[in-house]
Amino acid sequence: MSQSLTQTPPKIFEQAEDFLPLNGTDYVELYVGNAKQAAHYYMSAWGFQPLAYKGLETGSKDVVSYVVEQGKIRLVLTSPLAPGGPINRHIEQHGDGVKVVALWVDDAEKSWKETTARGGVSSMEPTRLSDEHGTVVLSGIHTYGETLHVFVERSNYAGAFMPGYRKWDPEYRSDSAGLLYIDHMVGNVGWNEMNTWVEFYAKVMGFAQLVSFDDKDISTEYTALMSKVMTNGNGRIKFPINEPATGRKKSQIEEYIDFYQGAGVQHIAVATNDIVATVRRLKSQGVEFLRVPNTYYLDVLDRVGPIDEDLEPLRELGILIDRDDEGYLLQLFTKPVLDRPTLFFEIIQRKGAKSFGKGNFKALFEAIEREQESRGTL
Ligand code: FE2
Repeated sequence: MSQSLTQTPPKIFEQAEDFLPLNGTDYVELYVGNAKQAAHYYMSAWGFQPLAYKGLETGSKDVVSYVVEQGKIRLVLTSPLAPGGPINRHIEQHGDGVKVVALWVDDAEKSWKETTARGGVSSMEPTRLSDEHGTVVLSGIHTYGETLHVFVERSNYAGAFMPGYRKWDPEYRSDSAGLLYIDHMVGNVGWNEMNTWVEFYAKVMGFAQLVSFDDKDISTEYTALMSKVMTNGNGRIKFPINEPATGRKKSQIEEYIDFYQGAGVQHIAVATNDIVATVRRLKSQGVEFLRVPNTYYLDVLDRVGPIDEDLEPLRELGILIDRDDEGYLLQLFTKPVLDRPTLFFEIIQRKGAKSFGKGNFKALFEAIEREQESRGTL
């Protein structure tokens, strides 16, 4: 159980190339069945603030989008306003889900040229959008499944979000839950497809593989998944890629693929500086989290060593702890936030650790097995 203390530290074994400098995640767009209610959910349950809107009132006849933000995180919630068309078809096939992982760049045209020249498939040629607040340049490429990367150049824009949107300023506000930025976003891909997409991020986007202790013992009979983490040069963008593996039980990745009907974004990990306060608020506002058995806390400090926090509130809220050679992290996973068991969120507070909590997978499943054993159902 102490193996995570002796693993090699995370390191980038191939230097990421700099033909695609990325400043961070610009926004994440979800196609949803009812954007108005989804926006209210992310405000009332998650503490997002209203930012921008487009719809019938702004001249958008076919599509409505609400933009909400918290810290540096922006979610765009989009629904169709009429039958037919690609958004309805996307929702019918996948249910609600992430369509666009948008990346903030200084030069959207160059980003498109560099990536498509390296084999990226264009989804949008460089497009200039202007209004009285300035100009945004967008371009895009396809990634796994039907997911897109959109490159957003906004240095000459001072409006709320981008042309086509107006500032959205409803009376209703909720308090922030302390979410700061997107730490990483995980993609689930099909059987034997992980290395294809690892190569895509390496070759097309110049990412490098982040080697961390998460890669050790990567497929156990319990977790039944394989994962590699791709990161851009400055480390602001981290995309773990999962594929299913054969295990004792049906892989959680396979379940995702079955319900999402293909590859897609599995979870969005959002960072906080105070996970106890964040999780307490989210829980009180109806966000549902996975719960480890209390037995997890009997020996967790033997596994991870000393931590700054009191254990009791972590136990009370079910917050998980893991450690690597550079420090530790606190994390907790929500239940799927949609009706299909597909997309969920992770709340993460890093205290030096650069890894992703692999140690908790084993602890989680072992704790569950101890519970099963005590009930005689193992
Ligand atoms: Fe994660």
